[in-house]
Amino acid sequence: MSFFSRIFQSSKTKTPADLSSLKTDIHSHFLPALDDGSKNMDETISMMREIEKMGYKKLICTPHIMSDYFKNSPETILPVLEKVKTAIAAEGINLELSAAAEYYVDFDFERKLKEEKLLTFGKNYLLFEISYLHPPENLNHVIFNMITQGYKPVMAHPERYNFWHSKFNMYEEMIEKGVLLQLNINSLTGYYSIETKRTAEKMIEKGMVSFIGTDCHHAGHISLLNKVVYEKSLHQLLQSGKLLNANL
Ligand SMILES: [Fe+2]
Repeated sequence: MSFFSRIFQSSKTKTPADLSSLKTDIHSHFLPALDDGSKNMDETISMMREIEKMGYKKLICTPHIMSDYFKNSPETILPVLEKVKTAIAAEGINLELSAAAEYYVDFDFERKLKEEKLLTFGKNYLLFEISYLHPPENLNHVIFNMITQGYKPVMAHPERYNFWHSKFNMYEEMIEKGVLLQLNINSLTGYYSIETKRTAEKMIEKGMVSFIGTDCHHAGHISLLNKVVYEKSLHQLLQSGKLLNANL
């Protein structure tokens, strides 16, 4: 392919990708009033109604657990999950719900890892995120501890960590250490940044993505999902045979 045809080649398809093949979303902030996601039950119900229309069958809700901003725990999350299950059943929304969490690797995470039973999904998958400003100094130690304690670490939205955009080998290093990578679907629209989109596409090209998630916080994220289904890279990822979403 020539230089010019490569530049002008569209990244879009005419037909939308079928998200129902994913069956399960593994990363979202649908549970109300626990973090910076849904503000109340009405918003939760409205978003779940939309996500059901897209073909999802199961949602693993993952509220933030941080030591400062969102001090969640199984005790705050699980009762809310039960309330939402009841509410959506009354609305006739047919989605299977469960909850895990998005753990932030901060100063207190290693203590939690040592002393508490953490919320996981599937085969003991543990979703974690790191700072957007710089990687934590103890990251390798934390990963080692997660694995030795029997967890399977899943890094949330690696493509959004700008400090690694020019150090792509760090993503490969994460995989070598036993970390699975979870891409945000909406990264493929360019919503976060063009560099985030390019990094996500490169991960797809190299077959590095194990999970895909909506990371849905509000209705705007759902509107974007209706656009991202026309991205070629999403089609490529869904056909890659690498995604584990449907096996949960
Ligand atoms: Fe998230």
